[in-house]
Amino acid sequence: MAGRQFSVICLILTFATIVQCLFPFSSSSPKKDDEWTHYHNQDALEAKFGELAQKCPKHTRLYTIGKSVEGRDLIVIEFSSHPGTHEALKPEVKYIGNMHGNEAVGRELLIKLADTLCNGLVNKDSEIVKLINSTNIHILPSMNPDGFELAYNTAKEDRGWLIGRSNAHGIDLNRNFPDLDSLFYYFENMQVPRYDHLLELFNDKHKYEPEVYAVGQWTISLPFVLSANLHEGDLVANYPFDASRTGSQQQYSKSPDDKTFRYLAESYASNHAHMAKNDHAPCDGTASNAFARQGGVTNGAKWYSVSGGMQDFNYLATNAFEITLELSCEKFPDGKLLPQLWEDNKKSLFEFIWQAHIGIKGLITDVNTHKPIANAVVWVRNATSTNGPIRHPVTSWFTGDYFRLLTPGSYEVAVEADGYETGTATVNVTNAKRGQAQILNFALAPLQIEPLPQQPQEPQQLEEIENNQVESDMLSQAELDELEQVISNMPDEEQQPVLVN
Ligand SMILES: *[C@@H]1O[C@H](CO)[C@@H](O)[C@H](O)[C@H]1NC(C)=O
Ligand SMILES: *[C@@H]1O[C@H](CO)[C@@H](O)[C@H](O)[C@H]1NC(C)=O
Ligand SMILES: *[C@@H]1O[C@H](CO)[C@@H](O)[C@H](O)[C@H]1NC(C)=O
Ligand SMILES: [Zn+2]
Repeated sequence: MAGRQFSVICLILTFATIVQCLFPFSSSSPKKDDEWTHYHNQDALEAKFGELAQKCPKHTRLYTIGKSVEGRDLIVIEFSSHPGTHEALKPEVKYIGNMHGNEAVGRELLIKLADTLCNGLVNKDSEIVKLINSTNIHILPSMNPDGFELAYNTAKEDRGWLIGRSNAHGIDLNRNFPDLDSLFYYFENMQVPRYDHLLELFNDKHKYEPEVYAVGQWTISLPFVLSANLHEGDLVANYPFDASRTGSQQQYSKSPDDKTFRYLAESYASNHAHMAKNDHAPCDGTASNAFARQGGVTNGAKWYSVSGGMQDFNYLATNAFEITLELSCEKFPDGKLLPQLWEDNKKSLFEFIWQAHIGIKGLITDVNTHKPIANAVVWVRNATSTNGPIRHPVTSWFTGDYFRLLTPGSYEVAVEADGYETGTATVNVTNAKRGQAQILNFALAPLQIEPLPQQPQEPQQLEEIENNQVESDMLSQAELDELEQVISNMPDEEQQPVLVN
């Protein structure tokens, strides 16, 4: 009996094998199954995004923010109920992967995320519909496609730890952003009260790489609220500041929003299958780096100090809060592991986007004309402490809306705008309802005496900064001269740290 069954199965198997040989394209295991166990190279990525844009035409927009050194498109897919439009009170979120070209997991997870968002729309998945209804999501799977292609086309045994990390000019893109930390620390030491949008005061002769220039311009051209930069080489969620205050290689360097950044990083780590759990060996094999024991999160500079990174650039140049995610010990693991990595990260990737809705948001308008006020400055202070305001105000966009990510607590809020009386309010933040920032609108009264003209301001372009068109009402010419002196005397490149993730 058993023997007969065996030979029948053999016969069926042989038949199937023959059919498969004769008709390889009608194979019973379609290409779809393979798609997520293989890496998408640039061509496959572009083809995939083209496919998604056709499948979800009403809710997606494909755009390129620039080109790599070797001319590859830096391609973004946006998911939104109104792609290409910033609607007031709807936060913009971005995900960036593969900044180091040989760190390929985040790139694949972001392609899979885009696919999942589109499928969710097609299948009317209520969570996904709700998320895209309330949030504009921009996904750049590869910031360094040249580095990726190099690593992808290098045999695994020859790849080592660094092949494909840099761009085609050999530059590490996560050290090539304007070093606003130095400016921030300089102001801190000099007690100059400037804490935010520091790019407007920054002037250096640095030549930025095309990938950095493209991402830098993109970062300041939309009112991003939240962002994550996906890397591999470890398993941890890393938050600002990345550069240490004293130049020390390892030193906890708190940002004014340390508490909120920890909250964001913990959101990613705690929703991840392993990051915050003590169920895995530390990637570097030593106990000192056992990130899981500290909740799967770390301050950037406490781990190792990095200047010219993208994370701190976001925080110090714009309103966006960015963290850096390290998603796997291995940078470019076998494609067969990708489905498991997706399962491990899926919940975190979604929950992190929802974090764009913590804290408060609102519209700032003229009480008489009801017109939106752009560039209003929103300060918050912990109402139960004796400290001054958090030294990181956020500003309103042209649509008059602002977003202020906050952890639960009681806050005093003050809104300043040129030509208007200051608006104030108190608010209790609970973050109890996911996806619903507390709304706190301000209708400001014009100042009675000689209102200053409200100057329309275009988003600052990096080019303008380079051309030295820097104005400041906070600093005298002498101070600016001194500042320039300090900046020009700063070491050009930090010593390459030992750890490179
Ligand atoms: C999405 O927004 C539309 C239009 O505002 C609304 O009709 C719909 O109920 C929303 N869907 C969900 C799931 O929130
Ligand atoms: C506010 O300050 C109090 C007193 O220092 C502190 O206990 C509390 O945690 C702070 N709340 C927030 C949200 O930072
Ligand atoms: C915030 O909560 C405190 C304590 O529960 C309460 O006294 C206060 O009135 C609340 N403030 C607002 C603006 O709701
Ligand atoms: Zn990296």
